Amino acid sequence: MAELVVQGGGYFSGEAFFPGDKSLAHRLLIFGAMAEGTSVFFNMPHSRDVRSTVSVLRGCGVDIRIAEEKVVVKGSGVFQEAPDVLYCGNSGTTARLMMGALAGATGYYVLSGDKSLRKRPMARVTKPLSQMGARISGREGARYLPVSVEGQRLKGKEFNLAVASAQVKTAVIIAGLKASGVTKITEPYVSRDHTERLLPAFGVNIDKQGLTVSVEGDQRLQPFEYNVPGDISSASFFLAGAAACKGSRLVVKNVLLNSTRTGFLKKLKEMGADVRINVHTRTPEPAGDVLVQGSRLKGVKIRPAEVPSLIDEIPLLAILGAVAEGVTEITGAEELRVKESDRIKWTVRLLRSLGAEVKELPDGMVIEGPQELKGGTLITGGDHRIAMAAAIGAAVATGTSRILGFQCVSVSFPEFPDIFRHLYVK
Ligand code: S3P
Repeated sequence: MAELVVQGGGYFSGEAFFPGDKSLAHRLLIFGAMAEGTSVFFNMPHSRDVRSTVSVLRGCGVDIRIAEEKVVVKGSGVFQEAPDVLYCGNSGTTARLMMGALAGATGYYVLSGDKSLRKRPMARVTKPLSQMGARISGREGARYLPVSVEGQRLKGKEFNLAVASAQVKTAVIIAGLKASGVTKITEPYVSRDHTERLLPAFGVNIDKQGLTVSVEGDQRLQPFEYNVPGDISSASFFLAGAAACKGSRLVVKNVLLNSTRTGFLKKLKEMGADVRINVHTRTPEPAGDVLVQGSRLKGVKIRPAEVPSLIDEIPLLAILGAVAEGVTEITGAEELRVKESDRIKWTVRLLRSLGAEVKELPDGMVIEGPQELKGGTLITGGDHRIAMAAAIGAAVATGTSRILGFQCVSVSFPEFPDIFRHLYVK
């Protein structure tokens, strides 16, 4: 779908299940490939990013079968040398996690990606892996893709990460699983902990003490079967719409509720939204149902330590901030500048196209509400999350909006237009 047309002033109503969480899906596929035996995953998302991980793993000789309702991974515990470039598309998680997986494998591998991914920083992964003994080279001293990895026997090491990034943490942990000795990583703030929660389900010993995670090397993984809970980041668009639009009542069923991912729900509550959460599963990942009803919202402060738990939802919080009463201030979010697009720049641009006033900061933004948003022609920088935030902004605004280049949503959520039509009433 090249463009989405939205008539503003409606509300969100109904009940929905969402395709499985993208962060979990990447990890399950990679851990399944590293395991010895057959893993089966249900409710896997069929988004482009997840397909990138599938095709990269297949390029390394992993047998993966995809059916509508399940994905079957036949792991052998090893990767085969890839005869061609491993194309990661738009997916930073694929590129970074696979570098960790291949650094200790046998063979020669080249990873690349699309124009956006080739601009994104890779030194944060290639540097620690090199310090473990990996042979990695690439553009500008392995700071950018394409990157080549010549698998080596690695040595466990201790790292203090400068940024709270789950992708970096996970890449190093994966490499550590096949290294000799212990690998230990300390992050400045808690980032999403799916790797720490899922690896034990694959039979791995992993230790977590506060901000430090450590793994022993030379570990073998066992296969695992799992029904993936819905993607909370995908659901958040509709939950945000429901919170902001009067008359809304939306129920999201069986969605991921890991506290390192639910910073957005916490902020919705702080903004005065009517949010009810019912956790029905605790391991390996918490999951349950969320009910949100439209309410009057007030501005909120997002502090640096909170950023990792809501990093992908910041464009949405900015939209809510514009219609909420009082000041919304987002700081410590400079990581947003190196996502699929410069998400600070594109969120500010989106808000201004909707007629809002917003002050851009180097590491965030300040918005004073309530402001009346007006529909118009909206552009997204080719970034899936900006495109979906634009759809919610358009629903909250008055008049008609056209969002151009809407096909980019297939990167994480190809079902978005259908679910939007189903849940949005105007
Ligand atoms: C992800 C971690 C986050 C997030 C991305 C997915 C993951 O990135 O923005 O969408 O699955 O580990 P960083 O870890 O680089 O902040």
